Amino acid sequence: MDLQLKDKVVVVTGASKGIGLALVDAFAREGAHVIAGSRSITTGLEELQERYGVIAVPADLSTAAGPDALVARAVDRYGTVDVLVNNLGAATPRPSFLDIDDAEWQRIFDLTLFSAVRASRAALPHLLDAGGGAIINISSINARLPFPAVVDYSAAKAGLASLTKSLSEEFAPRGVRVNAIAPGPVRTPFWTAPGGFADAAAAQAGTTPQEAMDVVVPQSMGISTGRVTEAHEVADLALFLASPLAGNITGAEFTIDGGQVKTL
Ligand SMILES: NC(=O)c1ccc[n+]([C@@H]2O[C@H](COP(=O)([O-])OP(=O)(O)OC[C@H]3O[C@@H](n4cnc5c(N)ncnc54)[C@H](OP(=O)(O)O)[C@@H]3O)[C@@H](O)[C@H]2O)c1
Repeated sequence: MDLQLKDKVVVVTGASKGIGLALVDAFAREGAHVIAGSRSITTGLEELQERYGVIAVPADLSTAAGPDALVARAVDRYGTVDVLVNNLGAATPRPSFLDIDDAEWQRIFDLTLFSAVRASRAALPHLLDAGGGAIINISSINARLPFPAVVDYSAAKAGLASLTKSLSEEFAPRGVRVNAIAPGPVRTPFWTAPGGFADAAAAQAGTTPQEAMDVVVPQSMGISTGRVTEAHEVADLALFLASPLAGNITGAEFTIDGGQVKTL
């Protein structure tokens, strides 16, 4: 299937590993010009720079200036932006809501919601000038689930879901489609990095982090397919939403969780 993404200018936030790196890889393989923003440039990103000419921009996207600089780099190089994927987001597990102070709420909101607000505000004039395009927000099933360990992250993702809907309404008449993807657990450093969620699940179950990802997490979270999602599966869905083939899809959220969420 030709997704008609060749030569499209695609900006991805949080791009050096995990879902972000999979997004960069997927869009680059389709022949898009990808501008990838993250604080570090990993070997994975370096390989995509060499193979596909991806432009990796080192930037702290939790700051007011970071998203502007990332979008500016795309416009400097290619003159426009066609697709923005707001992928950056972060959670820190803590015992209780009572353990999260104002500074932590602000940090999680800067990373998870305001990075998307700022990148969208910077990119939208260019999408509009180009006659349309697509924004894809990587949300989470946590936007709707009670999960006290990451109450700040969940609230930020709920905000991102609302932002998706509001932007879709305002800009659909001018050709910009805005959609969200809400993954359940995805095998990325978010889970597998030392001290991450996989270590915590492994310690609780008395097993290894690998076994926790492969068995404990799917079982304990009620994932009907019996496995977590892989990063490239999220990227494949984003490709479709970015494509003109999804031309009448806007303001929608697509869950990718192996059937974890049981309600309609
Ligand atoms: N993995 C899951 O189970 C899951 C489930 C639902 C939703 N999601 C969502 O999917 C998105 C990606 O998650 P992931 O699992 O791929 O995360 P990840 O493995 O933790 O990767 C996060 C990415 O964001 C970058 N990043 C972190 N802080 C940054 C900053 N201040 N400025 C710029 N870049 C920064 C990191 O690169 P640097 O460290 O180099 O900056 C890295 O490339 C997030 O929005 C997350 O909430 C993930």
